[in-house]
Amino acid sequence: MKILLVGSGGREHALALGLKSDKSCTQLHVAPGNPGIAEIAQIHSLVITDNQAICALAQQLSVDLVVIGPEVPLVNGAADVLRAAGFAVFGPSQAAAQLEGSKDFAKGVMRDAGVPTARSFTCNNAAEIEKALDTFGAPYVVKDDGLAAGKGVVVTVDREQALRHALSCQRVVIEEYLRGPEISLFGISDGRNILPMQPAQDFKRAFDNDEGPNTGGMGAYSPLPWAPEDIVDRTYEEVLAPVVAEMAARGTPFIGLLYAGLALTDTGIKVIEFNARFGDPETQVLIPRLVTPLASLLYKAATDNLDDEVLQWKDESAVTVVLAAEGYPGDVKIGSKISGLEKVDSAFIYHAGTTKKEGSLLSSGGRVLTATGMGNDLAAARTNAYRAISQIELAGSFYRSDIALTASITEKVN
Ligand code: AMP
Ligand code: GLY
Repeated sequence: MKILLVGSGGREHALALGLKSDKSCTQLHVAPGNPGIAEIAQIHSLVITDNQAICALAQQLSVDLVVIGPEVPLVNGAADVLRAAGFAVFGPSQAAAQLEGSKDFAKGVMRDAGVPTARSFTCNNAAEIEKALDTFGAPYVVKDDGLAAGKGVVVTVDREQALRHALSCQRVVIEEYLRGPEISLFGISDGRNILPMQPAQDFKRAFDNDEGPNTGGMGAYSPLPWAPEDIVDRTYEEVLAPVVAEMAARGTPFIGLLYAGLALTDTGIKVIEFNARFGDPETQVLIPRLVTPLASLLYKAATDNLDDEVLQWKDESAVTVVLAAEGYPGDVKIGSKISGLEKVDSAFIYHAGTTKKEGSLLSSGGRVLTATGMGNDLAAARTNAYRAISQIELAGSFYRSDIALTASITEKVN
C-alpha cells in the first residue's frame, strides 16, 4: 500500500515511523515533512492550505491512502476534496472537523448526544459576555469559538483579562471551570465504530510546576498508572461512542481520529475539548506503544472496516519531552544550530521545528523536537527521555524537567 501523510510536526514524524514499520506500507510519502521524516520517507513540498495541491500530489503518486495530520487542512475540507477524487482518507470531512473548528458546534453535538461537558454560553456581544462571566464567576474560562492555533483559550481569575479576551473574539464560548486532572484519550473511527486508544497526559504550560503560558504541549506520557482502571471503557461509553453515533445520525460521519481532552472531576468525566486529529505530543508516546500495525489500521478506518479490529499495546511506558526554542510560546528565535543528535541512544528523536541548510540542522519553529524514552515503568522511560534531551545542544532552548514526574513517583509507591 502506498501512503501519503500530510504534515510536518513531531506528531507526523511519530506517525511516519508507525506507518513505515507496518509491512503493508510499501511506499511512504510525506508532505511537507521535515529533516527527521526525510530519513524514513520520501518527502514532497506542499502548501498544506491548498486542497487542490494535496489532491494533485495524491494523484501524481497514485497512493492508496491519505492520512491528514494537522487540523488546518481538515477544517479547510481537504478530506472532502480527496474523497471526491476517489481516495481513501484517514481524516474527517470539513463538516465533521467542526468538532475542533468550532467550540459552539462541539457543545451542540455534546448536548444532542448527552455527553458530559462544562456548562457554557456562546456569546456574540458585550452584554452576553458580561452576563456569562458573572453567571459562572472565577476562575473564568473564555474560549474563542474558532481555530486559534492553541491561543484561543484563556483561563484566569482576573475578570478584566477574561473580558478583554472575550471581546477580542468574534464569537466566544464562556464556560464553567472544571476541577480535576486532565487527560487525553483518542479514538480511531471509521464513522460507525470507534476504537479507544490508551490514555495519555499532556503538559500544556511552558514551565515546571505548570507555570507560565499555555503551549501546544511540552511533554506527555502513557500509560497513566494513577487513572481509574475503567477510564477507557467509561470514556468509550460516555463520550466517544455517543459522539460518533451523533455525527453519523447527522449525516456527517466522523472518520479519523477523535481527540477527547477530558477533566476527571468529582462528578465524573467531563469533556474539555475535542480535536479532529492526533494530539502533539501525545502521539509521540502512543504510537511507540501501539502493537497493532498502524497502516492497516488507518486504512481500515478510512474504508469503513473497523468492525472486527481490536487495538493491542505494549506493556512498556513511554515519556516524551519537548525541546522548545528560546521565546516559545511567544516569538521564537529560529535558525540556530542543533547538535548532539548523533550521541543519542536512549530515546527516539522526533523532529518538529527543524530544517537542513548546507548540511547543518537548524531550528525552524517553537517546538523543535521531542525525545521519547521507553521503559518498564515511567521512571525508566523518563530516565531515557531526559538522558537524550540533555545530550542535544541548541542555544537558548529549554525543556520542562517534570514531565511524568509525579506519576512516576506514585507508580513506584503503589
Ligand atoms: P483547550 O484549548 O480547550 O484544550 O484549553 C486549553 C487549556 O485550558 C486546557 O488544557 C485546560 O487546561 C484549560 N481549560 C479549558 N477549558 C477548561 C475548563 N472548562 N475548566 C478548566 N480548565 C479549562
Ligand atoms: N497536545 C494538545 C494538542 O495536540 O492539541
